[in-house]
Amino acid sequence: VPVPIGFTLQPEWEFLELVSPLFERVDYFEVAPETLWALDASGELIENAYHRAFTAMRREGGKPFVAHGVGYSMASAHAGDEARRKKWLARIEADHRAFEFEWYTDHLGASSIGGLAVTLPLPVPMTQSAALVVASRLRELSAVVPIVGIENSVFYFTPGDPMDEPAFAGECLRPDGAMMVLDLNNVVTSALNYGFDPFAYAERFDLSRVIEIHVAGGKDSDPAWLGGRTFRLDSHDAAVPESVWSLLARVAPQCPNLRGITYERMEGTVTDRDVPAILGEVERLRAFGKECDLVRRARPGSRRDLPDADLAAYERVITSSLCASDPAASLRAMREVDPSLREHLAAIDDDGFRLTALLVARLRFERLVQGHAAADQWFEQDPRAFADAFRRYHAEVPPTAFFPQEEARLFSRWSG
Ligand SMILES: [Fe+2]
Repeated sequence: VPVPIGFTLQPEWEFLELVSPLFERVDYFEVAPETLWALDASGELIENAYHRAFTAMRREGGKPFVAHGVGYSMASAHAGDEARRKKWLARIEADHRAFEFEWYTDHLGASSIGGLAVTLPLPVPMTQSAALVVASRLRELSAVVPIVGIENSVFYFTPGDPMDEPAFAGECLRPDGAMMVLDLNNVVTSALNYGFDPFAYAERFDLSRVIEIHVAGGKDSDPAWLGGRTFRLDSHDAAVPESVWSLLARVAPQCPNLRGITYERMEGTVTDRDVPAILGEVERLRAFGKECDLVRRARPGSRRDLPDADLAAYERVITSSLCASDPAASLRAMREVDPSLREHLAAIDDDGFRLTALLVARLRFERLVQGHAAADQWFEQDPRAFADAFRRYHAEVPPTAFFPQEEARLFSRWSG
């Protein structure tokens, strides 16, 4: 039986138009539910225009959909996050009625952290208590969509040994039999940044839990950002590199429960010149899916036992440092604050932490110009003055907004 091939639908009309020749060549679609929501004036989560377009595709085309969230925040421990999750679960339930998702997955990590919406997954200490937090989030979700799972993320800093991530992921899944999305571009990206062998890392996951594989590409960060040092980014904005293809050939056959391979690409990264190459890559995936013999496999790795850490204290340390003018220096100063965190924080790479702070600010910038027409215009007319204002705004107002509309409201309040 061939392994089904899927494609990500992104909320951007131009992107959808360009990649539309793919729609009949794939077996299923992936969506990030939160990107199909908007906030109405009363703060309720409502459907945006892409939601309506994609549910029409679901109804009329009949192809299955899988949900791959970007912001459920599987590893948040702070109590203040509960109200948000409750609201999101109700929205996910409504989406599940419309899309009948095959499964719902999100990234391993915390994107809502210490009350901030950092909107990219950040790592948490790999401890038993963190694994229990993730397991309980998976349980909440599985009450809405029966099959749930986590994806291996890319982190630019790790409070521990990155080679322990696979075993930690296994601990998060174990209590309830949840599944995994193994993102092979994330594996290759982490391997490049941390200097390990991608296959040795991938083999440490419990591959019998892998229900879906992701393939994508990425680029290096701008050398100017970190004084010449670059990191590989999981930017999903380029061709799938050969390193990902060869990892796919070695890993996929070892995933006996694999039910789909998804080609992922970000909106805003495709021009009409890229389309033939993307079609070619999807064909290559289809050919691979036809040939791929799923066997059995491998015994997963185990992790080093680090001291249990106070997760709420960890979130406070990370959030206060992320928005500091020198994030790495602030983090270094925090290392002595909580003895339970010492070993975890000592493992964090300064540049990786700086890069993460830059990405948090960049995502916020994008939310702001998307949600605030006047700010967008200001940016177009006077980029330098706007960038200065944005820097001050980011330093003075904690980034608590997830949706562009909320970000716009915060900015309006700040700029008076
Ligand atoms: Fe992915």
